[in-house]
Amino acid sequence: MRLFRAFRGEQSDRDRFYRILADDSARQVASYAPLAGATVLDVGGGPGYFSEAFSAAGATYLGLDRDRRELSARGTRDERMILASGTDLPVSTGSVDICFSSNVLEHVDRPWRMLAEMVRVTKRGGTVFVSFTPWWSPWGGHETSPWHFLGGHYARNRYLRRHGAEPKNRFGESLFPVGVGPALRWARNCEEVTLVHALPRYHPWWATWIVRIPLVREIASWNLALVLRKR
Ligand SMILES: C[S@@+](CC[C@H](N)C(=O)[O-])C[C@H]1O[C@@H](n2cnc3c(N)ncnc32)[C@H](O)[C@@H]1O
Repeated sequence: MRLFRAFRGEQSDRDRFYRILADDSARQVASYAPLAGATVLDVGGGPGYFSEAFSAAGATYLGLDRDRRELSARGTRDERMILASGTDLPVSTGSVDICFSSNVLEHVDRPWRMLAEMVRVTKRGGTVFVSFTPWWSPWGGHETSPWHFLGGHYARNRYLRRHGAEPKNRFGESLFPVGVGPALRWARNCEEVTLVHALPRYHPWWATWIVRIPLVREIASWNLALVLRKR
């Protein structure tokens, strides 16, 4: 509820929302892998919203984003952030303890390639934590929601007509339909990882069962987190 309330004020107080989200994410990741002394790579980290939270927990943080403007969206550029794409990570194979990505996968035209890259750069025994908003989630169309339920192109065109400008997240360009079922299948079929946990990221622990029910999970998960361990 705290996250949800902060999210509603995201546009007016972005720093507060991202601070709460970052603290929550670091706590969530720490429940699967120790952060103290770990190397964390954050794929699609924007201006570095999560760098303080991970660093405060004792991790060595490196983030990247493919959008130059995002990197300096908080004014000054965080020196722990670099310009690069999640689908071609400029990072050695098996070099990080934790590869993390929050709310990026649905913005990538080749999401499975990005997941494969995240697995590649992670050490054996290391952890991949990736979360995204599934397409059929109530927020799947981002600012064009809920009209994405009638189709991504329809929702994008409707937004353009109503607002006289394109949405920030443009279907087919910077927003793509990624489902819970396909993501779970990818994780289960990837021979290099074990699927440790799949959970609705923002829900309380007792709602984890949602992820086991096909169709329901596409809508009700809201945001899916996958925790993978590299073999
Ligand atoms: C919704 S923001 C998420 C920012 C942050 N990770 C969070 O959870 O608040 C999506 C970010 O992903 C970045 N992004 C999109 N495609 C990417 C790619 N192929 N490689 C790296 N970053 C990408 C965007 O530039 C943007 O900063």
